[in-house]
Amino acid sequence: MIAFRGFEPGDAAVIASWVDGPHALATWSGNSGFTWPFTPDQLVDAHAADPARHVIVGTEADGTPVAHLIVLPDRRGWSARIGLVLVAPSGQGRGHGAAIIRAALRLAFEELQVHRVDLGVYPHNAGAIRLYERLGFRREGVLRETTLAGGQWWSTINMSLLDAEWREPRD
Ligand SMILES: CC(C)(COP(=O)(O)OP(=O)(O)OC[C@H]1O[C@@H](n2cnc3c(N)ncnc32)[C@H](O)[C@@H]1OP(=O)(O)O)[C@@H](O)C(=O)NCCC(=O)NCCS
Repeated sequence: MIAFRGFEPGDAAVIASWVDGPHALATWSGNSGFTWPFTPDQLVDAHAADPARHVIVGTEADGTPVAHLIVLPDRRGWSARIGLVLVAPSGQGRGHGAAIIRAALRLAFEELQVHRVDLGVYPHNAGAIRLYERLGFRREGVLRETTLAGGQWWSTINMSLLDAEWREPRD
């Protein structure tokens, strides 16, 4: 079980340490504007620059960060986009990814009361796609060649979940 709280600038160093190279940075952060070498200041500055974003940090019992993501509602409050989903490499495969996405969905559907939640994921990121599908997200289309990474253009799979789908009983 992990606990959830907001982001603190002091979390940035440990979160940045989870990103181990430019391919991992691009896979995680896409078009966010982060550059390699990734530094904690880039994360602090990006969060500070966007007061509309909700940043969720998942922590171990002692408060150590183990997961991170953002939820960005649109201006009308109709939809929210999840981004920057990251779990500490040492904590992966233990349900932390599912837990922090569920926390984001509770925030979006219960507190922000949006109608839909969406996200983008690259086709090579099979583990993330499996996670999102397991939580009920559906693929809705491909945005072609959105991201230049390592000299290659990557396309983005857009996935979404509607409030009625989220409220359906699930296994
Ligand atoms: C994608 C990512 C967030 C998934 O996080 P995670 O914590 O590993 O996710 P989960 O543990 O919930 O699920 C991963 C796997 O662990 C398994 N699992 C979940 N809970 C488990 C448990 N308690 N015990 C054993 N295995 C478990 C799941 O069944 C799943 O298996 P699968 O790989 O066959 O689908 C993580 O790999 C990550 O940070 N990747 C790098 C950044 C990235 O790609 N972000 C997404 C950008 S769109």
